[in-house]
Amino acid sequence: MRTQMRYDAFSSAGSAPLGVDSRYSTPMSLSVPPYVAPETMEVLFSTAQIADRVKAIGQQISEDYKGHSIVLIGVLKGAAIFLSDLARSIEVDNTFDFVAVSSYGRARVSSGAVKLIKDIDNPIEGKHVIIVEDILDTGLTLSYLRGLMLQHKPASLKIATCLDKPERRLVPIEADYVCFQIPNRFVIGYGMDYAERYRGVADIRIFPETPPGH
Ligand code: IMP
Repeated sequence: MRTQMRYDAFSSAGSAPLGVDSRYSTPMSLSVPPYVAPETMEVLFSTAQIADRVKAIGQQISEDYKGHSIVLIGVLKGAAIFLSDLARSIEVDNTFDFVAVSSYGRARVSSGAVKLIKDIDNPIEGKHVIIVEDILDTGLTLSYLRGLMLQHKPASLKIATCLDKPERRLVPIEADYVCFQIPNRFVIGYGMDYAERYRGVADIRIFPETPPGH
């Protein structure tokens, strides 16, 4: 779940303001859960395991797009670290861009409402595009972004995700490149947050509690 769903667990029931969820900007009006030291959390994937998989995905992309240029579109903020490693493991000509999305708290799950709050900077018409995401969870974000990017008429459009939680899917969407499939556990690190924390943790760890709504 994205930040609003997670913040909701720590604000009084039903009182969370609408429209403040964002992976791009932190809502200021919601209470922040207590800090849990990441060293105490179980490691799901070590830095070495992550590096191996990112390298393998980078090689696969380099083979699949041999002779072409590609545009990587990272979804802020969670995918920033994965994108920076992935871009460095891709051998074909590549540029990158970023988008940011926001959604509307609990309403999101029922309505699927996702809103673009930062668009791409450069046109992608006729280009080979890969959307780069940290986690494919319910699929709402990526199906929204895929629809939006297809409107720009790219030559091709694929999805790369660091993690995939197939059990949580609400809409039918699959990624073309996946580092790891994981069960329904809430994780942090390698760009992924809990209430905006832990993005800088180098490995991927299991957060000790499953946030409500997740
Ligand atoms: P969805 O596929 O639209 O549900 O949204 C995926 C987004 O939810 C990801 O980009 C993450 O920001 C967030 N997310 C889902 N699961 C987790 C998790 O285990 N840890 C941190 N963020 C998560």
